[in-house]
Amino acid sequence: MSKIEIVEPVLFAGVVADEIISTIEEAISERGSCSISLAGGSTPGAIYRMLAKPPRVENVDWSKVKLFWGDERWVSPDDVQSNFKMVHETLLSQLGSRQPQIFAVNTSLDTPLQAAKQYAEVIQKELPTEPRFDLMLLGIGEDGHTASLFPGAQVLRDKNPALCVATEHPEEKKPRISLSPRAILSSRRILFLVKGEAKADMVQRIIEGNEPVETLPACIYREAQDHVYFFLDSAAALKLKRQS
Ligand code: 6PG
Repeated sequence: MSKIEIVEPVLFAGVVADEIISTIEEAISERGSCSISLAGGSTPGAIYRMLAKPPRVENVDWSKVKLFWGDERWVSPDDVQSNFKMVHETLLSQLGSRQPQIFAVNTSLDTPLQAAKQYAEVIQKELPTEPRFDLMLLGIGEDGHTASLFPGAQVLRDKNPALCVATEHPEEKKPRISLSPRAILSSRRILFLVKGEAKADMVQRIIEGNEPVETLPACIYREAQDHVYFFLDSAAALKLKRQS
């Protein structure tokens, strides 16, 4: 059964940041390193900023942390849409000499397909054994997408998908690079980070409904229930019958 943490909005970033820090400390003490796949979008920025500030920032040997991206937009790393740029601004640029190992999607290649293939090779090389990631951070879109796995995406039907795929945003029609469900589920812990009343209906459908993954890609969590945690603020959890 997946676990649900409902947090007051003002406390959300700190509670999630503490959860991430304790997961990092546990991974490093047990396995000598911690591999994290970072969520993009607007929700995690405040959380990443908290990680980069005392006292939390001092509790981690960042040189033993490996950072990956759960998805990326097909833009240059200095584009305002870039998830790399968002992580650089909120976390990496604040860490000073405490630098983690960074494995970003290479969006300077000729095509999104080449970038997805190369990123899959990077993940296979850096994290060769399952489960690959110690911590998978994910957001949820108002259409039920997660990472850049959008409703109807072909990869949701693939029986033997690659670790990373090229997808397309359904409205913007812009290319995206995304970890596949196979890569996402190859994680010791999966945290969904969801804030705001605009997500409340979707959160209720994903956690309490039974719609298929093709309709609501975030429902891939059902295959990993025992190590999935939903961190919701009280607004996003508004429609839930189940409150823990
Ligand atoms: C992205 C994300 C995406 C995001 C959700 C939620 O690149 O946009 O990876 O999956 O997590 O769309 O986005 P918000 O946090 O902005 O609501």
